[in-house]
Parts: sequence; C-alpha cells; structure tokens
Amino acid sequence: MENLISLVNNIQRACTALGDHGEESALPTLWDSLPSIAVVGGQSSGKSSVLESVVGKDFLPRGSGIVTRRPLVLQLHKIDEGREYAEFMHLPRKRFTDFAAVRKEIADETDRETGRSKQISSVPIHLSIYSPNVVNLTLIDLPGLTKVAVEGQSDSIVQDIENMVRSYIEKPNCIILAVSPANQDLATSDAIKISREVDPRGERTIGVLTKIDLMDKGTDAVDILEGKAYKLQYPWIGVVNRSQADINKSVDMIAARRREKEYFASTPEYRHLANRMGSEHLGKVLSKHLEGVIRSKIPALQSLISKTIIELETELTRLGKPIATDAGGKLYMIMEICRAFDQIFKEHLDGVRSGGDKI
Ligand code: GDP
Ligand code: NA
Ligand code: MG
Repeated sequence: MENLISLVNNIQRACTALGDHGEESALPTLWDSLPSIAVVGGQSSGKSSVLESVVGKDFLPRGSGIVTRRPLVLQLHKIDEGREYAEFMHLPRKRFTDFAAVRKEIADETDRETGRSKQISSVPIHLSIYSPNVVNLTLIDLPGLTKVAVEGQSDSIVQDIENMVRSYIEKPNCIILAVSPANQDLATSDAIKISREVDPRGERTIGVLTKIDLMDKGTDAVDILEGKAYKLQYPWIGVVNRSQADINKSVDMIAARRREKEYFASTPEYRHLANRMGSEHLGKVLSKHLEGVIRSKIPALQSLISKTIIELETELTRLGKPIATDAGGKLYMIMEICRAFDQIFKEHLDGVRSGGDKI
C-alpha cells in the first residue's frame, strides 16, 4: 500500500513538472483530484512544529510572527536504505543532506519571491525528502491565519491569507490538519472556523491540539481530546511540540518525541488517552487515512488519467509529427508517464479483483 501513496506522489510530481502546459490538458483536474494533507491554523499555533514532528526532522523555519509566507508542498518518500536527503524542485539535481541548509533555502526562496518583507505569495515551494524514517505522505504547510496586518504588510493580507488557505482546503480530496493551540479558547480557533466552512461535517478534518503543556494550571484538554467540546469524525490528537526555549537550546527531535510520549503517559488526566496522542501517532493516522482516500479514489484517478492520455494524444496530433518543438516533446513525455500510471493502476485493480493486495 505504501507504494500506492508513492505512486500518487509521482503523479503529483509529474503534474507539477508539467507546469506551464498544465492549462492545455486535463492535468490540472488530475492534480486537484489527488489527495493531499494541508496544515491550517492561526499564526504561531504550531503548524510548522507539527509538520516537523510528523516528519521527525528539523528543517522548517519556525518562530513567532509570520514565518511561513509561501505554501510549502512537502513530499515524503520512504527509501529502503541509505542516507536521507532533500531536494527542491527549483534546484533540480542538488541534494541537500544538511537540513539546516534546507531551512535556509526555504527562507531564501521565500524572500526571492516576496522580497524580505512580511508579504506572502501563493506560489508554492516544492520540497521532497527521501528517508528510511518517513511514511510516504504529501503535506502542505500554509501561512498562518491572522487578524490584523502588521508593519510592512498590505491591508488586504488578512483576507489574502484566508483566500490562499481556502483554495487549498476546499478541494474535496484535501485532508485538513486543523491546528489549534490548547492555551487559547477553542471557540476562537481559526483552524476550526475555516475548516468548518469547507468541511461542515468534519469528514476530512483531523483536529490537532498543540501547546497542551502551556495550559493554565488547573485546566486540562480532556473534554476536547475526548471529542466532547467539539466533535469531529476523527478523534482529536493532542501533541506537545518543542517550545521556543527548546528550539533555542537545540533540543533534538528524538528527545522531544520521547518527552512528548512521557508527558502523555505520566500526566494523570491524559494517561487513558496516551496511546492515541502524540506526533508519532499522528504520522501513522495520516498515512493510514491517506491510503484509505487513495484507495477509494483509484477508479476516478484511473479514468482521469485515461482522459488525459486521450487529450494529450489529440494535442500531439494537432502539433503534427515528428515532434520538433519543445512543447511537443514535453507533452509526449507526459503522455508516456500517464501511460505508465495507467498500466500500474490496471495492474492494481487486477490485483484487487483477484483478492490480492498487489500495490
Ligand atoms: P506556526 O506559525 O503555526 O507555524 O507555529 P510554529 O511551529 O512556528 O510555532 C510557533 C511557536 O510556538 C514556536 O516558538 C514553537 O516553539 C512554539 N510551540 C509550538 N508548539 C508548541 C507546543 O506544543 N508546546 C510549546 N511549549 N511550544 C510550542
Ligand atoms: Na509563526
Ligand atoms: Mg509556520
């Protein structure tokens, strides 16, 4: 099944690589119909921290204020062995093995698009991480929702961010990771507000409660975590990420995860929930959920791919053969990729029909 997620990852990449030819074919529809997971929430609610703990690596710029200013499309690829590395789509063939350099490149590439201001841009940064320690997933980190523009931002920024976030999470195949901090009232949660708008029944929203360690003494998050305060189809997952002090002290991810586990296991209020709390559990839930979504979408994806092939064939015929132009060459390549996917899907469906679980 992991291969199926990796297959969708590959289609996603092929669609993105296609870039400028996207509008000419069914591929934008194909891209839109691929399952993804987007992280939403208020500024500094802990979105980037949650993503990092799911990945189990430090590589995202984090901190107070607006840090994430462009969408980051993060593809995790599980490899069997070898050293982990990262690759940006805008820097093909450059392998990053130093994740501090990955963080710097995200920040630099953000500045290249927006200037060194606090402006935002909806042009995504595409990053792939290859590692033996990840589950195959595509995750999207988004700028945080805010209430007011700060110095250096245009007046429309609040609305601009909201529109950008909505454009990602309104896609029916998007799983919404709605991040709310436990030290603020859930009724004021930006994540809940916007996810309820696009997914009123909570069918594709996973509620993540951060900063449980920062709640006022004498209060706890049991009602929320048990689904009594705000009901979603999926159980709420509580996490304890690293604090700013931890980050400044360079507390590593492994230590942080261990501490998080201990926190839930040893706090009397949460002990009965401990086995479904924490970042590691969240990673597993996401991967499993994504598998389910992909499984249910296979027939639709397959027919979309067939349709794309037909459209590309028509387009290629129109361009005439032999294909000398760059555009023709690229379209031809894409068609070959689609055909390969088509073949894999067919094999998978055969596997399902014969009772096997091939992919
Ligand atoms: P984002 O703006 O939503 O992406 O939030 P960040 O991940 O950048 O986190 C904002 C700040 O909150 C950082 O200083 C984090 O260290 C801190 N933070 C995030 N989650 C937690 C948590 O669960 N506990 C504590 N103590 N601090 C957290
Ligand atoms: Na922040
Ligand atoms: Mg962030």
